Amino acid sequence: MSVLEVRDLRRSFGGIEAVAGVSFALEEAEILGVIGPNGSGKSTVFNLLTGVVAPSSGDIRLRGKSIAGRKPYRIARAGIGRTFQIPALFTNMTVQGNLYAAIVEGDWKHAPERAAQVLELMNLTPVRDELASSLSGGQQRLLEFGRVLMRDPDVILLDEVAAGVHPTLRATILGAVSELQSQGKSFVVIEHDMELVRAICQRVLVMDAGQVVAEGSFEQIASDKGVVEAYLGVPVE
Ligand SMILES: Nc1ncnc2c1ncn2[C@@H]1O[C@H](COP(=O)(O)OP(=O)(O)OP(=O)(O)O)[C@@H](O)[C@H]1O
Ligand SMILES: [Mg+2]
Repeated sequence: MSVLEVRDLRRSFGGIEAVAGVSFALEEAEILGVIGPNGSGKSTVFNLLTGVVAPSSGDIRLRGKSIAGRKPYRIARAGIGRTFQIPALFTNMTVQGNLYAAIVEGDWKHAPERAAQVLELMNLTPVRDELASSLSGGQQRLLEFGRVLMRDPDVILLDEVAAGVHPTLRATILGAVSELQSQGKSFVVIEHDMELVRAICQRVLVMDAGQVVAEGSFEQIASDKGVVEAYLGVPVE
């Protein structure tokens, strides 16, 4: 059984169908890339998967159980975590404080131990007592990713987590993703950086105007001239 299964998901905002019939499955320990032009509905898919926005129709199944339209806290509890395209940090709290605050409910006892692991994984141990506002943009993205890991989700949704991040910090992000994948975590990764997609994604969905217009390995997608020109707008060698 797939970890996550999405069937004919739809969501309209006024007259715009932002997500217009999206279906896909995510397998255990898979990294699935989602690419497509601005406004093609990628982040809205994440908002639907995490309950931030309710679907107009369609179904979302996590290990076979429907979670479509559930409240965000229930979906988080069921094991889906996500980063936001614009990091949602508590800027006046320390790095470590931000990790603790991400626990929200439940496992307080293990918070210090868990935070220490996350700080190590994200290379943030040296700045754990700094205010989040003092971090670089790249470090803030690492912290945003780290916050997601505090609740130990099975499915991790990353929304452009490496966008504009310095190569050194980007390598930290990629290392963390690989490490988590080897622990059996599954990922959906929205990304505009094709090199990153090529490096980590086993499979790629191409979205345009709310629909999945192509699906396959990076090589299959990149060799599809129609997809590359029409939907990516950038040449891929
Ligand atoms: N809450 C909302 N209310 C109204 N319109 C919305 C809302 N969320 C998304 N949209 C619209 O839905 C469409 C898809 O937006 P979305 O953010 O999902 O695109 P995206 O593929 O993530 O783009 P980008 O690459 O720029 O992040 C856009 O036209 C956007 O304006
Ligand atoms: Mg987006």
